Amino acid sequence: MRLHGKVAIITGATGGIGEATAKLFLKEGAKVMLVARSLEKLQSTLQRLPADADLAHHVADAADEAANAAAIAAAIEAFGGVDIMIANAGTEGSIKPLEALTMADFEEVLRTNVLGVWLSMKHCVAPMKLRGGGSIVALSSVAGMIGFPGMMSYVASKHAVFGMVKTAALELAVSNIRVNAIGPGPIANRMMGSLEAQMSPDDPQGQHEILKGLVPMGRYGTNEEVANLALFLASDESSYCTGGIHMIDGGFIAS
Ligand SMILES: NC(=O)c1ccc[n+]([C@@H]2O[C@H](COP(=O)([O-])OP(=O)(O)OC[C@H]3O[C@@H](n4cnc5c(N)ncnc54)[C@H](OP(=O)(O)O)[C@@H]3O)[C@@H](O)[C@H]2O)c1
Repeated sequence: MRLHGKVAIITGATGGIGEATAKLFLKEGAKVMLVARSLEKLQSTLQRLPADADLAHHVADAADEAANAAAIAAAIEAFGGVDIMIANAGTEGSIKPLEALTMADFEEVLRTNVLGVWLSMKHCVAPMKLRGGGSIVALSSVAGMIGFPGMMSYVASKHAVFGMVKTAALELAVSNIRVNAIGPGPIANRMMGSLEAQMSPDDPQGQHEILKGLVPMGRYGTNEEVANLALFLASDESSYCTGGIHMIDGGFIAS
């Protein structure tokens, strides 16, 4: 029970990594607030989680400040406070050469992946201070470390997440709030399926094999492997970790 008595908020809870993280956190004794933009998807996610768990849910678009603040208030109302924020909601956007990207393409990715992470941080600081500290974990990517052709908005957004995490860690260390980033490589779930299909509409499976071949470990990661790292960073086991970028990429960035 590595999160016994802790209250965790997970954004993007209807996605692959979000759901796996919720499942693991519940197993480790946390009370969990699932946040996502689709009530229908939240209800379907809830059906796959234990019926007797300490669970609540709230609908919020990542870039909607009032909805984010309301989600955090709802967690406090349901569970008495906030100890852990997993800022996980994210979108891959459209794969296009930079000269073909529209303002709408770029803005959608920045609003979700950058403003969304900042808003998650912003509204959990005061409640975490009331608890004497906390842990914020934001999802970046290998695309936060290096460039990928055709992915300018996503790459920009994930570099920004690393910058925000470093800044938040410096501002919040004095309040005993730790802030860390996770940098996954390709993970076997919907998002990578979308990227494969966008990169190679006629042969997504072939694209999958190409991308797999770029990973030194020769495979995609799993949602559960990312959830395990989120658990470590959320728990007191990582009590001296803050401002860090924690890659989980099968060696992708090392190569
Ligand atoms: N999969 C990978 O290979 C990979 C690699 C590196 C980093 N990551 C990062 O890991 C995080 C989780 O992604 P995932 O792999 O679990 O992909 P996913 O299955 O597509 O999940 C993404 C989640 O974010 C939500 N979301 C998207 N746009 C949103 C918005 N505007 N407002 C609120 N929620 C929104 C999605 O909700 P809907 O279902 O309603 O769209 C979903 O719950 C993301 O930040 C992603 O960039 C993933």
